[in-house]
Amino acid sequence: ISILVLNGPNLNMLGKREPGIYGAKTLAQIGDETTAFGESLGLSVDFRQSNHEGVLVDWIHEALGRHRGIIINPGAYTHTSVALQDAIRAVGLPTIEVHLSNVFAREAFRHHSYISPVAVGVICGFGPQGYTLALEALKPHVA
Ligand code: DQA
Repeated sequence: ISILVLNGPNLNMLGKREPGIYGAKTLAQIGDETTAFGESLGLSVDFRQSNHEGVLVDWIHEALGRHRGIIINPGAYTHTSVALQDAIRAVGLPTIEVHLSNVFAREAFRHHSYISPVAVGVICGFGPQGYTLALEALKPHVA
């Protein structure tokens, strides 16, 4: 069972980017840990990042037939992207939204998500652990 894990803009800067908010780990480290945890659950993880909205839309479309579920940290596109909402709706794959930070403890513009209405659920505020929590939460939806 394969799961697509998508990361949006600026998440390639993790480790360097506002470590007080996002932590010291790089995205590569988080990817390795998420992939290893997935293996322990019998899930194969395809972990990716793009800074480009259209690339993320393409990857969501391509997930159909290749992956059984999606975990997505859309970064700032969370708060702006009707296109990502429509793409997730179009493929109909069970999707979990993840944020490293607790977006509700931050600026008001981070309180609204275009992704949440099409997600099974949302995990935010637990740092990199959010990705492994999301795999556990997604498993019954893809089994
Ligand atoms: C984020 C939260 C977003 O508001 C922000 O734009 C990000 C990262 C998070 O993981 O906490 O880029 O998705």
